[in-house]
Amino acid sequence: MFVIAIDGPAASGKSSVSRLLARKLGCLDVNSGSFYRAATWAVLDAALPLTDESAISSFIAAMDIQCTLQEGHTVLLLNGRDPDAHLRDAAVNKNVSRISSYPDVRRVLTNLLRSLGQRDSLVMEGRDIGSVVFPETPYKFYIDASEEVRAARRYAQGETDSIARRDAQDSSRKAAPLIISEDAHVIDSSHLTLEGVVSEIIGRLKMKGLNVTL
Ligand code: DC
Repeated sequence: MFVIAIDGPAASGKSSVSRLLARKLGCLDVNSGSFYRAATWAVLDAALPLTDESAISSFIAAMDIQCTLQEGHTVLLLNGRDPDAHLRDAAVNKNVSRISSYPDVRRVLTNLLRSLGQRDSLVMEGRDIGSVVFPETPYKFYIDASEEVRAARRYAQGETDSIARRDAQDSSRKAAPLIISEDAHVIDSSHLTLEGVVSEIIGRLKMKGLNVTL
């Protein structure tokens, strides 16, 4: 079993990269941001005051979170409800960095994410996968792209999302901030195609001795 960790800032292209890489390797693809987005949606839906860290932490700790696998992807149910249609709502984009800065929220989701790595080989993308969730994996990547390219990608997706603000919050928080792990292989995707990034990763995985059968 293997875990491939892919971290990077918002709209760096890491979700598309992870999806394609997992498809090529025939393993599970886990978008950890969708876990933080789902938790944020549940908090908004419950109308909890967003600055009340202790109420939000207790709410998340008490929540029934079911994570099942379907066609190589994770499917979440929070207290029996499917958050999927709301994960990219403007209100979620706006508040997800705040909710994911709360250490007790992170503890719950980190445990859940780690449990997936015990069940299956996977590609997991996020902000702290190589640094905190799976620090022991030898397969760590950090995907970056220039701010202009990232803003253009979000704009093309038609979303209201201030990625610069989110990046500043995600990088400056105390609990598991976005950092480049010392042992991560950094790829600037600004001028690369999706296939280009994925083949660079596959080349690196082979070099590191992972038995890649495509
Ligand atoms: O990958 P994304 O942009 O969908 O992630 C949404 C937010 O979730 C991101 O702004 C910060 C948070 N997040 C996190 O704190 N840790 C992760 N491993 C993944 C996402």
